[in-house]
Amino acid sequence: MSEDRVRWSGPLRLLHWLMAALIVALIGVGWTMTHIRSDLGTTFTLYQWHKSYGCLVAVLLVLRVAARLVAPAPPPIEHSRLERQAARAAHLAFYALMLAVPASGWLMAAASPLALPTRPFELFTLPAPVAPDEALFGWLQPLHEVAAYGLLALLALHVLATLKHQFVDRDHILRRITF
Ligand code: HEM
Ligand code: HEM
Repeated sequence: MSEDRVRWSGPLRLLHWLMAALIVALIGVGWTMTHIRSDLGTTFTLYQWHKSYGCLVAVLLVLRVAARLVAPAPPPIEHSRLERQAARAAHLAFYALMLAVPASGWLMAAASPLALPTRPFELFTLPAPVAPDEALFGWLQPLHEVAAYGLLALLALHVLATLKHQFVDRDHILRRITF
């Protein structure tokens, strides 16, 4: 089989790494802005950065789903049925979380009693789907947190699985998603 047929499409490979870098940075900044005490100006800047790049992840997700629908996935690597199903379930869970995290962030920012508008990259004001509501905010905040750290836990499993493929099975899995 030609090299191209056993790899993910070019746009998907690009989006995979771009979004991975953004998501890891967003988790780092999200944790920092909520756990490290700093002056009001710095905290405000971190929140704006977080919200802007978080919205960018949502836009890139739409492109990624389109890229997956347009180009077929490469055939799965020859492994047990269980491993193939686990990989499929993990990829599906990634997509669900990549949607749930920005969506809950958007709703939470709108529900916040602080009522600060979300202005991605200072370009426009994101519509607020809900009005400020302390009870709703109190519900959405842990949802965003659990979903974001759930994404991080899944990433840890995903990296371990990649290492197993690469160094134990020696099936060169990284070649399928790199350039
Ligand atoms: C938050 C970060 C990440 C997310 C959300 C993520 C998600 C995904 C998803 C959904 C796929 C299936 C292809 C697709 O639809 O794009 C995939 C494939 C892959 N990822 Fe990641 N990934 C992340 C980071 C990483 C990292 C850091 C590594 C390497 C250490 C890695 C290695 C791979 C490999 C090797 C494949 C190909 C699997 C195959 O061909 O069956 N990923 N990833
Ligand atoms: C993939 C995208 C995103 C990731 C990975 C992410 C991740 C995180 C993380 C890890 C935290 C810290 C949670 C904690 O320890 O308390 C956080 C907090 C927060 N995120 Fe996100 N986030 C994303 C997108 C968004 C978006 C799109 C928005 C809003 C438009 C947003 C708004 C917020 C806000 C306002 C907080 C602070 C909540 C508080 O004050 O406790 N996030 N995020």
